[in-house]
Amino acid sequence: MVQANQVTEKSMEPKSSAIRNEEKEIIVKVKRFSPDKGEWWQEYKLTVDRFTQMTEVLRRIKTEQDPSLSYRAACHMAVCGSCGMKINGAPMLACKTLALQLINEYGSNVITLEPMEWFPRVKDLVVDLDDFYERMYKVKPRLYPSKEVLDGKAEHRLVPEDQRELWKFAQCIWCGLCVSSCPSVKNDPEFLGPAAHAKGYRFLADPRDTITEERMKILIDSSWRCTYCYQCFNVCPRDIEPVTTIKKTRAWSSKMKDKTKVAETGEKHVNAIADTIRRSGKLLEAEVYLRTYGLVQAMTDMVFMIKSGRMKYALIKEVPIKGLNDIEKIMTLGENE
Ligand code: SF4
Ligand code: SF4
Ligand code: FES
Repeated sequence: MVQANQVTEKSMEPKSSAIRNEEKEIIVKVKRFSPDKGEWWQEYKLTVDRFTQMTEVLRRIKTEQDPSLSYRAACHMAVCGSCGMKINGAPMLACKTLALQLINEYGSNVITLEPMEWFPRVKDLVVDLDDFYERMYKVKPRLYPSKEVLDGKAEHRLVPEDQRELWKFAQCIWCGLCVSSCPSVKNDPEFLGPAAHAKGYRFLADPRDTITEERMKILIDSSWRCTYCYQCFNVCPRDIEPVTTIKKTRAWSSKMKDKTKVAETGEKHVNAIADTIRRSGKLLEAEVYLRTYGLVQAMTDMVFMIKSGRMKYALIKEVPIKGLNDIEKIMTLGENE
């Protein structure tokens, strides 16, 4: 997706003056909403050039055509996180998206704007982010230093390797785009959501923090509720990779004594998958199922499998692949990362 601050210095120097001075008329279709009138689509026309961000489009509509239109934006430089919305159906920051490049990319001069999904709408493109902030505060989004540091008797030290691990995950601007597009947030009330996990892991992995046990209790059960669909990875305007923090948090499960059922099952599942691939180069579904859910559950499900004619797949005898040494090397590399 074309985004404003991805435009490089080179790409800002169009080859010809025709491109440099290019202007186009666009039609902006906004999904509007008010508690009194409900929902409706409204169209606005205006001319844009190669510098026009979608926040500028909205500013001009509001000041020149329709003061009743509501939206949020503050910094216009992808820092404050307030302009998240759906643009042509995809979750994006409006200030990081250029109108002209959008219409060139989509091959249409019609651009649709909708509020972020899942959050309750307040008016037009403005959504209520209370739930998002609650998720963020649940993971205690600040460092809890030691008493010695607080008393001024010691200093915080962070080695470059730890800094490198944490830096990326500390860049969240709390825009909510990842949460709005996450299917697990929509379906599982116990799941904290991708942004909270990115923030939580940033402190869980910080060697200066002192509430590690508490953080594990908050984060580990939830981390096993993510379905790894990678939507958060795709939509994050800061390339934070929340799903990577969820994977890394899962790896902490082995350090936890009293795990929840969800975390225990998830851990058994992952270990069984890794083990069967290591032994045979293949994912042995039947064995993985048995080791994940136990004999009683497997026997119960077997009745369903026999009835649905799928039992034959569970009984297929898999032959180990050639080159298991290479598999072992790859897996060891992955585990050490
Ligand atoms: S990868 Fe996980 S956290 Fe990210 S959007 Fe998918 S379910 Fe949500
Ligand atoms: S992780 Fe990315 S998408 Fe999610 S709130 Fe933070 S900056 Fe926005
Ligand atoms: S206006 Fe601040 S992130 Fe877009």
